[in-house]
Amino acid sequence: MAHPLFSLDGKLALVTGAARGLGLAMATSLARAGALVLLNGRDEARLKPGLEALRAEGLAAAPLVFDVADEAALERAFAALEREHGRLDILVSNVGLRNRRPIDQLSRADMREMLEVNLTAPFALAKRAAALMLPRRRGRLIMVTSIAGPLSRSGDAAYTASKGGLAALTRSLAAEYGPHGITANAIAPGFFATETNAARVADPKIRSFIEQRVPLRRWGEPHEIGGAAVFLASDEASYVNGHVLTVDGGVSASF
Ligand SMILES: NC(=O)c1ccc[n+]([C@@H]2O[C@H](COP(=O)([O-])OP(=O)(O)OC[C@H]3O[C@@H](n4cnc5c(N)ncnc54)[C@H](OP(=O)(O)O)[C@@H]3O)[C@@H](O)[C@H]2O)c1
Repeated sequence: MAHPLFSLDGKLALVTGAARGLGLAMATSLARAGALVLLNGRDEARLKPGLEALRAEGLAAAPLVFDVADEAALERAFAALEREHGRLDILVSNVGLRNRRPIDQLSRADMREMLEVNLTAPFALAKRAAALMLPRRRGRLIMVTSIAGPLSRSGDAAYTASKGGLAALTRSLAAEYGPHGITANAIAPGFFATETNAARVADPKIRSFIEQRVPLRRWGEPHEIGGAAVFLASDEASYVNGHVLTVDGGVSASF
């Protein structure tokens, strides 16, 4: 059970990209804090193991299958959510695409795709979620950005631009929805040992880079992102608005 200070009892949360990785980790933490969590992904079968793991713990979770970049599918999913629940308390917009390529190998189409998934879709999700929150004058919008955004490296321009834009969008959401009782914040993860990063975690050269570059000398474990999501979603974060909470073992604090 969550500490009563951070209880999410009675809250309804939607986490996008929750079949695995950081999305599933945040969904698990939100559910452990008491929320009913809707797990989103593009494929119901891929959502099943995560859902079963949550339910095996006695936690409340259900699937909400749609592609965040598909405007019509997003609208259908939110219409279904509204019909069934009539409200939404917490949105965690977690889906993020990556395309590691040097700029001269990055086409305009690549850039458009990146911005569509990493910036336009979170904008549409936040707007749709806020429409459900506005009548109740309360809600939590949580965007997942990255330390790539304020920081950059060669060969990652599209991702960095999209995540920097998402942090700026978070501030705009905070400014615009704050007067209506809705907060908007972001979580900026550093290097996490998720399934997508499995090959990188196993690579000895990258291990040695992580051991030198990260003050905590290791990759983050996915569950270590969960507390940030619970805090930002909780009533205890009632005056935190427009903040990007970095969870990176100290990478962006050091050089
Ligand atoms: N991992 C890290 O170290 C790290 C570091 C910094 C920032 N981040 C950010 O954290 C977020 C999560 O990263 P991750 O590594 O945990 O993610 P991931 O493993 O690459 O993917 C997470 C989930 O997103 C779903 N997904 C992908 N595209 C989707 C779409 N268009 N619509 C709906 N669902 C979609 C996938 O499920 P399906 O394929 O079944 O749909 C998958 O379950 C991303 O925004 C990423 O940029 C991660």
